[in-house]
Amino acid sequence: MELTVSASENINGTLILPIFEGSDGVPEKCQTGMSSSMKNQINRVLSTGDFKAKKKSTMTLYGGEDGKAILVGLGKSDDCTVHDYRNAGASVTATIKKSHGTEMTVRFDGAGISHMAAFAEGMMLRDYSYDEYKKKDEEEEETEVSIRINCSEKEEEELVGQVNVLKGVCKGVHLSRDLGNCPPNDMYPEVFADMARDWAKDFDNVDVTIINYDEAIKAGMGGLVAVGKGSSRKPCMVIFEMNKDVKGRCPVLVGKGITFDTGGISLKPGANMDEMKYDMGGSATVFGTMEALAQTGYEGKVVGITCMAENMPAANATRPGDVIKGLSGKTIEILNTDAEGRLVLSDGLWKAAEFDPEYIIDFATLTGACVVALGHEATGLWSNDDDFRTRIHEAGNAVGELAWPMPLLPAFEKEMTDSKIADTRNLGAGRWGGANTAAAFLKQFVPNRDYEKDGEQITWAHMDIAGTFWGAKTNMMVKNGATGIHVRTIYHLIANS
Ligand code: BES
Ligand code: ZN
Ligand code: ZN
Repeated sequence: MELTVSASENINGTLILPIFEGSDGVPEKCQTGMSSSMKNQINRVLSTGDFKAKKKSTMTLYGGEDGKAILVGLGKSDDCTVHDYRNAGASVTATIKKSHGTEMTVRFDGAGISHMAAFAEGMMLRDYSYDEYKKKDEEEEETEVSIRINCSEKEEEELVGQVNVLKGVCKGVHLSRDLGNCPPNDMYPEVFADMARDWAKDFDNVDVTIINYDEAIKAGMGGLVAVGKGSSRKPCMVIFEMNKDVKGRCPVLVGKGITFDTGGISLKPGANMDEMKYDMGGSATVFGTMEALAQTGYEGKVVGITCMAENMPAANATRPGDVIKGLSGKTIEILNTDAEGRLVLSDGLWKAAEFDPEYIIDFATLTGACVVALGHEATGLWSNDDDFRTRIHEAGNAVGELAWPMPLLPAFEKEMTDSKIADTRNLGAGRWGGANTAAAFLKQFVPNRDYEKDGEQITWAHMDIAGTFWGAKTNMMVKNGATGIHVRTIYHLIANS
């Protein structure tokens, strides 16, 4: 899809018309250049109530020589938000078929600039399918659809600016989805690292450093090594540094990158195990956010750390009962090898303090318990700083990606630090509150500033995206598979605050 903004009054190709519930005819402002038969047809379906303009609904009108129109509902005008515009845009993309042609024009009835931009964003976000592994019909050429957003001359410059930024951010979301959807035989730690290295070549302001398996062992990354050593695809840590010469503190993003989670020796049941290819969703969020920031020319410093490993059972795999020591120097009693995300993250979080973080946010498809708590509707959000947690919650709300505040209680920390033989344990004492105990475990590995023993702990948030990175049927922005969740939230948090 190629999307442009234009103050021209022509209708090119199929007309896309967002409509409020209760409209009984084509809005005055939208009538310019419209044939009277098309106008009559639209007026008829609106006045008879055949098209009620409910949120996300669409109807196509085929007007023969007079062209076609796609009507899309915005719901009632008095409670119509940017989210409704974004959803309407996504509904249109979901509706578009070959029969609609390759050129389209969107015409709004007095929408604000950010509403028009949100509609364009919804159109672009939904314009995604993962068909790398499908046979391509050589005869059939891929045709690109051109969408023109009509606006007034006064609005044109600002809308072009907003849409261009959103295009860059969408690239980040789509990259995150590509990484998540890629099958695990082709997406393993080394592949992710190679992709990151190649990607960075396109940008002067990004450096990618890879800490390979041998280096990870030497550096003492016991968590990463414990999880990844049972696989023939060895683990690694990938570090993205953007604008590294900029002075001062910066956001540090840490991602769980388990390219396949069998559970290890604590093997998972077979049903739906294929879904564990999405267990690198946290690392995809980090990489996708880097892409969004790079594409939009962000000039601040940002660091991303992805902890990549494949969790396999093997003769040399980590056992339940093993005690390991990671970068932090704290020991961990491994009671279940399926609670592996927190192990790789323990090293990623500890490493983060080397980059003098303003704050650290980690992203992880960490627990089934989080999916039990919040379904596929919201990410679980924990933080050691209430104000920071609120900022992330609000950034999510602003872009329509819900992140729900969850409790980081001392009792959960106690549960995760009362191992009989080690400093911490990777499993709670019982099965209850599993998403909270996981978060409390991670907190043990968030360093104090400059690693000072009695210093202040760095501001940190944990986002459990186990339910929102994939399987989100009510997320209009994506048809199926990986969602690319929180690239937009974190872009918004970093670039707009
Ligand atoms: N990758 C899983 C969590 C997960 C489950 C993600 C479902 C997406 C959908 C994680 O590594 C895991 O297996 N967690 C265990 C932890 C338990 C052993 C304490 C879980 O949630 O059951
Ligand atoms: Zn697991
Ligand atoms: Zn996992």
